[in-house]
Amino acid sequence: MVQGRVYNFSAGPSMLPLPALERAAGELTNYRGTGMSVMEMSHRSKVYQEIFDSTKRALREVLSVPESHEILFMQGGATGQFAAVPLNLIGTTGSADYVVTGNFSGLAAKEARKYGEVHIAASSEDRRHTYIPGQKELKLSPDASYLHYCANNTIYGTEWHYVPVSKAPLVADFSSSILSHPIDVAKYGLIYAGVQKNMAPAGMAVVIIDRALAGHELPITPVIMSYKTMIDKESMYNTPPTYNIYMLGLVLEWVKEHGGVEGMEELRRQRAGMLYDFLDGSRFFHGIAERDSRSMMNVTFRTGDPDLDSKFVKEAAEAGFLNLAGHRVAGGMRASIYNAMPLEGVRALVEFMKDFELKNK
Ligand SMILES: Cc1ncc(COP(=O)(O)O)c(C=O)c1O
Repeated sequence: MVQGRVYNFSAGPSMLPLPALERAAGELTNYRGTGMSVMEMSHRSKVYQEIFDSTKRALREVLSVPESHEILFMQGGATGQFAAVPLNLIGTTGSADYVVTGNFSGLAAKEARKYGEVHIAASSEDRRHTYIPGQKELKLSPDASYLHYCANNTIYGTEWHYVPVSKAPLVADFSSSILSHPIDVAKYGLIYAGVQKNMAPAGMAVVIIDRALAGHELPITPVIMSYKTMIDKESMYNTPPTYNIYMLGLVLEWVKEHGGVEGMEELRRQRAGMLYDFLDGSRFFHGIAERDSRSMMNVTFRTGDPDLDSKFVKEAAEAGFLNLAGHRVAGGMRASIYNAMPLEGVRALVEFMKDFELKNK
């Protein structure tokens, strides 16, 4: 690692690609001869509009977003979308299907109950959210306005490896896996993601919505959460999170230089492969998620002894591997290995784990 940087395995906010940070640093006080920082620019200025347009264009290109879908930059993070989704979409029939596979999909369902009837199509709570239900286990209701699920469960370390089929439009929270693999966007009514893992600094959500779904919001929908308004005003109804959008543009350039989402998928396969191969061969560390549901972004594991787990997290931090403690609701350890985590970081972590195992078993 260069410049005294550490391997940061945080679940988010998390590592950003170093070249993007360096570009931002170089342009921080004087953006390309304008004499001002991007932070100081009017969002209505020509120079900022170019930054905004090129970020949006790059996202459309990288994720192959079809023309039927609009890209929105919204505030309030992914949690804002837990409310915005039902406010905008549940009114069509008054009810929606939710699959609960972890903390955040549970919170999304809880928020939606304020605005309509929520039907839990499946829950993985029976096995402590260690698996993703199969298509046959989804009990879909005939009159749902949409089916909501969370594509990657950041806390429990599970990921959907199939796209569920439903008559109702699909809505998915991709906060912790967006830009890490290709997505067939046309299959979705709406995709949203908080940006602080694979995209940009915290404080914004990217929303990709089929334009046909907008315009049916409940009358109580705050204007700032109205997809119709955001589409009509091209995400500039009010002052958008200008610097986050600029940073997203820099991150997207890095993604493009590394083979786009196909390149990111190959890298994530290598990163996750190294860790899971090691866990599968270890008699000391154990992976927590069931094998066919494992996340390639958040790898959860434990020794089985909470004291050893704490010792591991402490000694790992001292060795420069930061933020490996599992979430408080899940315990154990979690290595979040998003796009910007270098392969060497995972390789070095595995070496550290081997060494820790030898000394402590
Ligand atoms: C999958 C998922 N959804 C939603 C959220 C909540 O995001 P935010 O903090 O941007 O509201 C998180 C946060 O980590 C997450 O991992």
